[in-house]
Amino acid sequence: MNILVTGGAGFIGSNFINYILSERDDVFIVNLDKLTYAGNLENLKPSEGKKNYQFVRGDITNNELVDYLFKKYSIKNVINFAAESHVDRSILGSEVFYRTNVIGTNVLLEASRRYNIDKFLQVSTDEVYGSLGATGLFTEQTPITTNSPYSSSKAAADLMVQAFHHTYGLPVVITRCSNNYGQLQFPEKLIPLMILNCLKDKKLPVYGDGMNVRDWIYVIDHNKAVELVFEKGRVGEVYNIGASREMANIQIVKLILNKLGKTEDLIEYVKDRPGHDRRYAIDSTKIQTELGWKPSFEFEQAMEYTIDWYLANKTWWERIISGEYQKYYEVQYGNR
Ligand code: NAD
Ligand code: TYD
Repeated sequence: MNILVTGGAGFIGSNFINYILSERDDVFIVNLDKLTYAGNLENLKPSEGKKNYQFVRGDITNNELVDYLFKKYSIKNVINFAAESHVDRSILGSEVFYRTNVIGTNVLLEASRRYNIDKFLQVSTDEVYGSLGATGLFTEQTPITTNSPYSSSKAAADLMVQAFHHTYGLPVVITRCSNNYGQLQFPEKLIPLMILNCLKDKKLPVYGDGMNVRDWIYVIDHNKAVELVFEKGRVGEVYNIGASREMANIQIVKLILNKLGKTEDLIEYVKDRPGHDRRYAIDSTKIQTELGWKPSFEFEQAMEYTIDWYLANKTWWERIISGEYQKYYEVQYGNR
């Protein structure tokens, strides 16, 4: 089975490829990634050199390249992880978010239609549902209501994927997952940023009152759900993915401080994010009852594993902070 995986050098995509290629030899994966600041080929060392893995540096908005890859590798399946993914960056500048997340998805959908593919999985997000109050959960029926440039670009892509199913009969499935954590997450997102600041005795910038709530899932649990929806999800359907682990941001920060033996003096409450969504919480009954998925990692244990991973992989994050990681492509692929 030939699968085009996009954005496979990012946090979730690289964990996905490493996981799938360690478990299965019935797939051939072409990883198309632009290697933006968030893409790091060093994440893929476990997969590098495998005969059923091919990396291609390129942009999903590039029609000619995408068409060429579909033809060259007889692509029959697409899993679209590629995106600009950081809400704060989308607030600073939205254009690249709409270009990659909307136009890029359209390019992939059009190629998928031309080549009559078997399955298109869109990795969407719970952020398309907007924000919850103190109670309630997002279900697949919750109306799409977006607040940030990031979430609006992801919602547009999600709706386009549904439109291609309704209009052209393209066999699509969509996953909407909650906040991920785990190894290989770029250190601008809450958990790795707080871990690294703690290790460097730098202040921990908590937005607003620290009481915004996110529903956390370990990246491997997310990826196992993506694999299952890809294989067994009903065409045209949306599946929420979440591990029912709601935490206020300040709780996460204190847990990290505690684990690293630092004091709460490091916490610094800073100006809130504009339009900051208050609470996300996922109802994942559908994927659990229909497909038999459930999260297998317990939060405290997986957080401990994550913190230990950052402690043990100083070279990985130091090379990100110094910018060295961006030279890896030239070293690895420069003369090809
Ligand atoms: P990430 O920012 O770590 O990785 C994104 C990857 O996409 C990078 O490797 C980047 O180089 C690549 N990319 C960006 N623009 C591209 C383009 N134009 N062409 C080709 N490649 C491009 O993101 P992530 O956290 O791994 O998220 C992956 C997907 O999962 C995204 O679609 C995101 O919206 C979704 N998602 C993320 C979370 C989360 O908590 N991180 C939760 C739910 C859904
Ligand atoms: P983030 O990791 O950016 O994910 P998202 O905004 O997609 O949920 O942020 C998670 C939460 O942490 C969010 O409520 C914003 C908050 N946050 C901080 O308080 N300080 C920070 O430095 C960052 C990056 C996030």
